[in-house]
Amino acid sequence: MNTRDPASTDGTGNTGSTGEEVRPRIRRTHLALFVKDPFASAPWYEEVLGMQVTARGTRWVFLSFGQKHHDIALIQVDEPEAATRGTVNMQHYGLEIEGGLDDLRRLYGMLLRKNVEVVKTTDHKVGYGLYFHDPDGHRFEFFLELVHDDEEAKRLLGEYNAPSNALDLQPL
Ligand SMILES: [Fe+2]
Repeated sequence: MNTRDPASTDGTGNTGSTGEEVRPRIRRTHLALFVKDPFASAPWYEEVLGMQVTARGTRWVFLSFGQKHHDIALIQVDEPEAATRGTVNMQHYGLEIEGGLDDLRRLYGMLLRKNVEVVKTTDHKVGYGLYFHDPDGHRFEFFLELVHDDEEAKRLLGEYNAPSNALDLQPL
């Protein structure tokens, strides 16, 4: 039996009720960086890293290497005036999970059982985000992709300005 595939445990992918450990299976990742001014920094990412802007919000710019709706998000720090070189850092590291909504809910439950500090749950239109902190306060995101056609997801992200809305997610 392939023990790395939760679907093989009971044929439904449901590992939550079996008492087995819930483990994330990660597909792709993205990085969100705090920057002083996302609109001033974005051209650097286009010119130096060859990225394409896929969405703009009031305080953020999302960029892609071509395939995904975003690989890097540039997010303005809370106090840009106080931001000096070396003091701005990662906003979060996004981990796109395999599976569906119940898998995200099970991961939520796993975080709570392990006393991991959960920050928030959000609806990004193209996917759902579950944010949490590592012991040093580094922020991570379990991201459930809802739109699996990359071109369609890119279009939606741009059309809705990469939204980040509160999501009522129930842990399993
Ligand atoms: Fe993210």
